[in-house]
Amino acid sequence: MKEQVVCKTTDIDPGEMKATNFGKQNVLVCRTLDGEFYAFLNQCTHQGAPLDKGIMCGATIDTSKPGEYHYRRNGEIIRCPWHGREFDIKNEGRMLANPEKKLPNYKVRVEDEDVIVYK
Ligand code: FES
Repeated sequence: MKEQVVCKTTDIDPGEMKATNFGKQNVLVCRTLDGEFYAFLNQCTHQGAPLDKGIMCGATIDTSKPGEYHYRRNGEIIRCPWHGREFDIKNEGRMLANPEKKLPNYKVRVEDEDVIVYK
């Protein structure tokens, strides 16, 4: 199994993300507000935008009535900088609008202060 220390836990605050390298691949490491780490290929599935130039945010989802909107999942969504596709960090990088599509993702574990990405 290939694995690599990609950064320190202190390099990424909760609610932030950072591009790094895993071998030759450019990987996006995200830290959600609960402190968990996730890693994805740093490339949008649409036209390849670098997702680290986008934002981590929430989304207007779970609307129950027409005209009623709820902003939820703050810090759990990556929004692409080019055309706004949104990917669910806690659900394997699945696209909100089309969950069958997802970002290539990696496993992550933390040992002491090290954030380790592996396949
Ligand atoms: S490149 Fe990401 S939405 Fe188009």
